[in-house]
Amino acid sequence: MSNDQAEGPSGGVLIVDFGAQYCQLIARRVRELGVYSRITVPERAMFTLEHMRPDAIILSGGPRSVYEHDAPALDPAILGKGLPVLGICYGLQWLAQHTGGRVLPAQSGAEYGRTELHVLEATGLLEGVRDGGVVWMSHGDKVAELGPGFEVLADSEPCPFAVVGDRARRFYGLQFHPEVAHTVDGARMLENFVLRVAQCRVDWNPGSIVDDKVAAVQKLVGESGEVVLGLSGGVDSSVAAVLIHRAIGTRLHCVFVDNGLLRAGEREGVEELFRDHYHMDLTVVDASERFLGELAGVSEPEQKRKIIGRVFVEVFKEKAKELRDAKFLGQGTLYPDVIESVAAHGGATSTIKSHHNVGGLPKDLDMTLVEPLRDLFKDEVRAIGRELGLPSSLVDRQPFPGPGLAVRCLGDVTREKLAPLRAADAIVREEIEKRDLHRNLWQYFAVYVPQKSVGVKGDARVYEDVCVLRMVSSQDAMTADWELLPVEVLRRISSRILNEVKGFARVCLDISSKPPATIEWE
Ligand code: XMP
Repeated sequence: MSNDQAEGPSGGVLIVDFGAQYCQLIARRVRELGVYSRITVPERAMFTLEHMRPDAIILSGGPRSVYEHDAPALDPAILGKGLPVLGICYGLQWLAQHTGGRVLPAQSGAEYGRTELHVLEATGLLEGVRDGGVVWMSHGDKVAELGPGFEVLADSEPCPFAVVGDRARRFYGLQFHPEVAHTVDGARMLENFVLRVAQCRVDWNPGSIVDDKVAAVQKLVGESGEVVLGLSGGVDSSVAAVLIHRAIGTRLHCVFVDNGLLRAGEREGVEELFRDHYHMDLTVVDASERFLGELAGVSEPEQKRKIIGRVFVEVFKEKAKELRDAKFLGQGTLYPDVIESVAAHGGATSTIKSHHNVGGLPKDLDMTLVEPLRDLFKDEVRAIGRELGLPSSLVDRQPFPGPGLAVRCLGDVTREKLAPLRAADAIVREEIEKRDLHRNLWQYFAVYVPQKSVGVKGDARVYEDVCVLRMVSSQDAMTADWELLPVEVLRRISSRILNEVKGFARVCLDISSKPPATIEWE
């Protein structure tokens, strides 16, 4: 399945992805305006356009040159649909080239970084945009000549055609990136295009599409179809489960695999919420012996991950076979996963790695996928979760990696190490959450570092390992900053871990940002 199939709401903005680093950001910015947006690859743009019937088109940036013979191919007929078009960077160059203009390599070579925008016409697309504001450029080519109908709306020192437009046809182009935060008034320009130039309807509200999603699941699964879903207790699979359950009730069978690498209280929390509260058909498979057995003696991080991924698939497949009537597989796949997979398998984006969730299941399960969240971003899934009545403790919870505590337990994974790690992690969470400090944190957890050091507990000498505290803020986990909690909270956490948890002689604080460090330790 591709990301630009015939599903999803109609109207809104169609974004053609020429391989931009920031394409998802454009889609998010548009949705934040209350307007639906969807990304498509150039080859499928006309197909998607027919099904989606958008109100406007945005052409993204991209790493290629429009005059290369194998540059991403978009059918120029898209310009004949009478829709407003905004070209960004490469998108502008493509637009210029197909409307009688000319594109050449930038004379002084590539132009990267900040430059000031000189606004000539502060109306329409540039209404309210400040003269002299910084914009963010990143391009190797530039427009040398405009086709008939176009005029310059703003220029900059290195770039005479920084903003151009053909008002009659509602075609506009920006040589810089309005979607990045460094571009002053960039959000304003996108808003002007979407709401003023294109006059898109402001009717996108993720919470309001619950009924549509439920109806779509009912249509796909039919009157008697059965769905199996791997429930991890994370936001995505939980929201997917509640949504599918609302659609088909007890014909949804959830499988929760206890891999022995869970945090304290996790399994019980899932049982309580989904079985006791939602009355779902939930099977809990205790596979901890099997996972820990396969992991015994393995200390290389990638190997640990591979084993956990493989065993998960094996366990899940066995369970799915028992539910033989289930022809459908429910998954909490999100839009960024879909876009990344499509890009990695032939789309225009060259830089993004293929999506690899530990929960990703192989094709030979031979089941039809039910993925009600596949056109949504994470914050939109949270909004739907709230709409469905899921508690904030679940909807707003911190991410927890598929391989669980194994990537926070350095070296080989044993029950003897997992027990103190789990206890320390519970203390970290409790002390942070009861003070509401987690609202500003992306993740907060404990790490087990098997390095012995000497301590004294009571009157006795101990020789025990290190517990590291990791607290980070982040927008999207691509980059992260370490965060400092109030000293009295750190003191309390440290004292509780050293006094209540057997196995640690020392508590240390990780003050590494990402990059160069990663959030997890393995
Ligand atoms: P790193 O450690 O690479 O992590 O900075 C970035 C984000 O991804 C989470 N993470 C994972 N999630 N399977 C997952 O589902 C994994 O194998 C995995 N490894 C890391 C991590 O918790 C952080 O939020």
